[in-house]
Amino acid sequence: MKHFLNTQDWSRTDLDALLAQAAAFKREKWGDAMKGRAIALVFFNPSMRTRTSFELGAFQLGGHAVVLQPGKDAWPIEFDFGTVMDGEAEEHIAEVARVLARYVDLIGVRAFPKFQDWTQDREDKVLRAFAKYSTVPVINMETITHPCQELAHVLALQEHFGTTDLRGKKYVLTWTYHPKPLNTAVANSALTIATRFGLDVTLLCPTPEYVLDERYLGWAQANVAESGGSFTISHDIASAYRGADVVYAKSWGALPYFGNWAAEKPIRDQYKHFIVDEAKMALTNDGVFSHCLPLRRNVKATDAVMDSPRCIAIDEAENRLHVQKAIMAALLR
Ligand code: CP
Repeated sequence: MKHFLNTQDWSRTDLDALLAQAAAFKREKWGDAMKGRAIALVFFNPSMRTRTSFELGAFQLGGHAVVLQPGKDAWPIEFDFGTVMDGEAEEHIAEVARVLARYVDLIGVRAFPKFQDWTQDREDKVLRAFAKYSTVPVINMETITHPCQELAHVLALQEHFGTTDLRGKKYVLTWTYHPKPLNTAVANSALTIATRFGLDVTLLCPTPEYVLDERYLGWAQANVAESGGSFTISHDIASAYRGADVVYAKSWGALPYFGNWAAEKPIRDQYKHFIVDEAKMALTNDGVFSHCLPLRRNVKATDAVMDSPRCIAIDEAENRLHVQKAIMAALLR
């Protein structure tokens, strides 16, 4: 069965078809691809955009969405096997996924890392368990990657540049400061999709400690070998921004300090100047700026950057609706 866990599992032809369908849904929002069908949206973490756009997307295609928040309005779930369930969890994923699949036609899952041990979090245990036991397709609504955001981002870039061919555009994925160590998911995803579509990608981060997990570096290298793009890592702000066509910002915690965040804090506090501001954007090739949102203004990017006509973050957020309708329709076909 086909799931939507990572774009890397899907062919370029299939991704291009999803983007074309999303553009079509943007022109005409009503459809019947989910008529009489339902999706369960399982949220282990908060959301504004993902929840709203999936619920509305199902409605606009004639379907229905059920939102579940395990541990809040649904029973806490156990994901370990062979364990004596004498803790918080009331039921096991082996039952949860199979029961949900008897009710609904699709299951969306949001499950962020636990931020204690990266070697465990990088296994994406919750998403993989849903995919293992569900007898209906599973959609990643953000775990350690965020593939729905990837497609919304690419669609926004295609719209901005007026072409589906993004090859040769200079793309900077910049780390930014945030008071808390955040998930690497969107950064992993940006690296994955920008290299997949043949852009010339620079990963800009303060020190080697902020470089992403080797799995996503490997995907990026494999993608550029196929797409003809390029991939470099830089710790120099000015050279990374110079001539960029796209600046994409995200904050994330340094992987060597995973679970030891008190030790990382004094390091990250030295790099508040990675904020995206007008001076840095002036170095670009009249580049566009985007971010997955939510974004702390004047911490990650200044008011001036966010309010500039070069900021396409709102377009990207809107596109979540269109791309997710395309994903749901494709998985139900
Ligand atoms: N970008 C994104 O996924 O937004 P939410 O966390 O609000 O869903």
